[in-house]
Amino acid sequence: MNDSRPNTTNSGDLAPLSAYEKAATEGIDPRCIPQNLDGVPPVGSDIVSPHYSDEHNGNWRILFERQMELLPGRAGTALLDGVRILGMDSSGIPALSDLSAALEAATRWRLARIPGLLHEKDFFTLLSKRLFPSTDYIREKNELDYTPAPDCFHDMFGHMPMLTHPAVADFYQLFGQSALHAKGIQRTYLERLHWFTIEFGLIRQPNGLRVFGAGIISSKEEMSNALSDRVEVRDFSLESVINQDYEVWHLQPILYALDSFDQLADEFRHWSNRQGIAA
Ligand SMILES: [Fe+2]
Repeated sequence: MNDSRPNTTNSGDLAPLSAYEKAATEGIDPRCIPQNLDGVPPVGSDIVSPHYSDEHNGNWRILFERQMELLPGRAGTALLDGVRILGMDSSGIPALSDLSAALEAATRWRLARIPGLLHEKDFFTLLSKRLFPSTDYIREKNELDYTPAPDCFHDMFGHMPMLTHPAVADFYQLFGQSALHAKGIQRTYLERLHWFTIEFGLIRQPNGLRVFGAGIISSKEEMSNALSDRVEVRDFSLESVINQDYEVWHLQPILYALDSFDQLADEFRHWSNRQGIAA
């Protein structure tokens, strides 16, 4: 599944439409249409878990087992550590309140339950407060291989493990704070940066190239594609990433590899300061 959360929406200045917004204008799946939050979403221990059917827990089990099988030798150490720290397993869909408590203990991030894809302002506002927005519904059985919109498998298994890493945790909060101040082309730059790191990032480890982006981690197809010779892997530099366009609706032909998560956090902090959008 592909998911570009920071939708560049029409909130005043004339930024281009995000890939999802373009899709929405073309009548694609309504789950891809960003929503505004209706009030303050429940956070942490205030989140009440829904009752999941056996089929939905079974969908989680299939997805979890399938992806976990693909991770050894492909996923970065930080991600594998994160899955363990958060205590996810194949027994069923985790409670957001439990995941939030584990995340808070690791890096002081907490979870907010949200109804679906969010408009950028709500999304960035939550990130700026060290709150990660997550859905609590899972894709249906006929969507296990591909779902066009984020579900809780993507949010939980794809995104949350990396938020247990201190450098990523700090980067992502500053990303949210900076995005609230970004205007015009800066918003497009941030959307691309998010895409090529949080969603589709690779990292070089002593034992080789590994994946950490949520769009890869939560997708069987993207996982198989990401480390294959069908992909051109470029060395990460913030300047080259923010100038690289991408398309949401097919497997990614170009990816970027970080040397470390500190590299991402440091380059972004300097860049956002220079741009005058840092918190
Ligand atoms: Fe995502």
